[in-house]
Amino acid sequence: MSQTHSIAVIAGDGIGQEVVPAAIECLDRVAGIYGISFDYEHLDWGSDYYLRHGRMMPDNGLERLGRHEAIFLGAVGSPEIPDAETLWGLLIPIRREFQQYINLRPVKTLDGVASPLASREPIDLLIVRENNEGEYSEIGGRMFRGLPQEAAVQETVFTRMGITRAAHFAAKLAASRRGLLTSATKSNGIIHTMPFWDEVVAQTAAEYPGVQLSSELVDALAAHLVLKPWTLDVIVASNLLGDILSDLGSAVTGSIGVAPSANLNPERQFPSLFEPVHGSAPDIAGQGLANPLGQIWSGAMMLEHLGHAAAASHLQLAFEEALRAGAGTRDVGGTSSTREFTDAVLRQIDILPRQ
Ligand code: NAI
Ligand code: MG
Repeated sequence: MSQTHSIAVIAGDGIGQEVVPAAIECLDRVAGIYGISFDYEHLDWGSDYYLRHGRMMPDNGLERLGRHEAIFLGAVGSPEIPDAETLWGLLIPIRREFQQYINLRPVKTLDGVASPLASREPIDLLIVRENNEGEYSEIGGRMFRGLPQEAAVQETVFTRMGITRAAHFAAKLAASRRGLLTSATKSNGIIHTMPFWDEVVAQTAAEYPGVQLSSELVDALAAHLVLKPWTLDVIVASNLLGDILSDLGSAVTGSIGVAPSANLNPERQFPSLFEPVHGSAPDIAGQGLANPLGQIWSGAMMLEHLGHAAAASHLQLAFEEALRAGAGTRDVGGTSSTREFTDAVLRQIDILPRQ
């Protein structure tokens, strides 16, 4: 029996227009093998839409997205529009409205993608970033504009509920893996919010006897991520700290073009959003050079979230095999175009046995 999932697709700007169609071909191919089908609604939202309408998505944009089970997004951002407009006009409203309070980013070395680190130890860790509150708050303001005493204040907001649910998600993941949970903190310098974070993470992690929690100051943890990333399993971090650590994580494993991410509403009350870590890469857009792997891997995370673990690992194995067989775009040291790399993945999808 075929199972149909309704997916909103926002290819967005720049290379989003190239990597999203590539990933959709791969998703459809693997779906065919597992009796899954996708019903896509393609939405032309993003910077071009903004230039025509003065906003990133229509008035009823969130309502339209809310009718779908998941959102598959490429990237948004254009040199012609301030980045705060593109981010606060589309991604942040989606994350908040749909209670996507987890941003999950796997950090994993792949054969065929050279890490800039000298060591060849395989890296396999997950970064769980709190995605709804913390440092990304709307509370604050500016005063004395233009005067010498001009001032700006932005409040960090942590709630017990917000920290608890992020910590539960991370501890559960750790329990299903190596059982190591590392919490990023800065409670030596940030003396109100971060000790609260530490306290609530510790209380939550204590409910998981198989999970060993260590709290690390984020500056030391950043060094740890570069020097010995293979000793890390699951990292839980606030919105800002998690954002920075996850870009660092994708950098230590190789190209930013490879890294995937999921913005999850774990209760599945609202759609979750799957997107690569990279942006619209205006410097290479339209040239057929973009690496579609981050988008394809995000598609594998979407399959997993929709309950198709076997299809997800089939897709994951397919791109890992394609890399091993020597395919790879320029950013990972190869010579493949977007099309050629996508074809290599499609071939592996066809060859691999059912998982
Ligand atoms: P970027 O990720 O777009 O590009 C950084 C560098 O990595 C560039 O040299 C680019 O060519 C390369 N790169 C990125 N993805 C690649 C891929 N798939 N294959 C090969 N090379 C790749 O980051 P940048 O330049 O800081 O931002 C460009 C625009 O994207 C900005 O407007 C920014 O706001 C937006 N952006 C959007 C994001 C999103 O939609 N979630 C995330 C990050 C940035
Ligand atoms: Mg970032």
